[in-house]
Amino acid sequence: MLEYSFTGGRPDPASFPIEGLVEAAAEVLPKMGQELTLYPGDLGYLPLREVASQRFQHREGRPLPVDQLGITSGSMQSIDLVASAFISPGDIVLTEELTYSGTLGCLRHHQAEIVGIPLDELDGMDMDALEETLEDLHAKDIKPRFLYTTATHQNPTGAIMTEERRNRLLELAQAYDLLIIEDDCYGDIDFEPGIVPPALYSLDDTDRVIFIASFSKILGPGVRLGYFCAPEPYLSAIRDHRWDAGTSALSSCLVAEFFKHNLWTHVAKTTAIVKAKRDAMLETLACHLGEVATWTQPRGGLFIWVHLPEQVDMHQLQQLATEQGIGYSEGRAFHVHSEVISCIRLSYGYSSLESIRKGTELLCECIHKSL
Ligand SMILES: Cc1ncc(COP(=O)(O)O)c(C=O)c1O
Repeated sequence: MLEYSFTGGRPDPASFPIEGLVEAAAEVLPKMGQELTLYPGDLGYLPLREVASQRFQHREGRPLPVDQLGITSGSMQSIDLVASAFISPGDIVLTEELTYSGTLGCLRHHQAEIVGIPLDELDGMDMDALEETLEDLHAKDIKPRFLYTTATHQNPTGAIMTEERRNRLLELAQAYDLLIIEDDCYGDIDFEPGIVPPALYSLDDTDRVIFIASFSKILGPGVRLGYFCAPEPYLSAIRDHRWDAGTSALSSCLVAEFFKHNLWTHVAKTTAIVKAKRDAMLETLACHLGEVATWTQPRGGLFIWVHLPEQVDMHQLQQLATEQGIGYSEGRAFHVHSEVISCIRLSYGYSSLESIRKGTELLCECIHKSL
């Protein structure tokens, strides 16, 4: 791995709760005993589904129904199951014009035709543009299979879709009979508590939102645990496309046991650490790049989205940065049509504070040299 790794949405490694998980293992494994000789089943380990349900209740004031909730191998598997269940080659899927590269890869693999909707980097998807697209498709008698959105702490821009836009999205979804996939991967990495509106899943009273979330960003992607919550008939369609006999009960029981007691203390701890890293990266950018570029001020999540001047040679920048041991993500990876854009995404969750300061300063030097 590069010395200054600003790629990937990874949390702070030092806050990974090794001792807590060892204690959880000592507590739960003797009780689990021979249960681990059974297949976990397609919804997965019930106590972890209960943790996921209560996690939602803590923020949204209502639980997720555990009998509609399925544990998956990371949230990526939830996205893939949704894609398997609903996409046939050539189907239209709507999403933010810039979105998570993993989802784009998955949608392309399922041969969806991806239609990007412009977004504001503060307030999320542009609802006028969405309405226009929906009208246009309707006029051609085309029905999109679903709309995928990361409404909160969007990857890569950090946008938070406002409550007004969320309500408008749901109105449009009802008018055009549209299924919504809400990816809440970063929902709990929140630096300004109280500003995130209710989840689309909470605001919806027409059973047309599938909610997807993850334990990767608050704990670690190595545990490979995420989940979906889907109302019927979508739940049955997803279950019909699942062949893996369920997600690891071993991983699930350790995390369930640990989070049963420690979820919110752990989230508070890891969020505070990540916020300090965000601050360090923002300060370093302001010191060394202030006059040549602009960037977002994320209110949560793990990324800063940097707009470089058009004249930056993106290829040269990549080369110079690699020589200095710096990794970042190129903007085109997040563009629905892989357009070359003069933006980069910097991830501040994983590297140490010292590496963030040093690596960001070095990266700013590389940017100046690529002008
Ligand atoms: C928006 C979004 N959704 C889903 C994922 C997949 O994460 P995981 O499969 O580790 O839960 C990521 C990972 O970066 C992401 O950024």
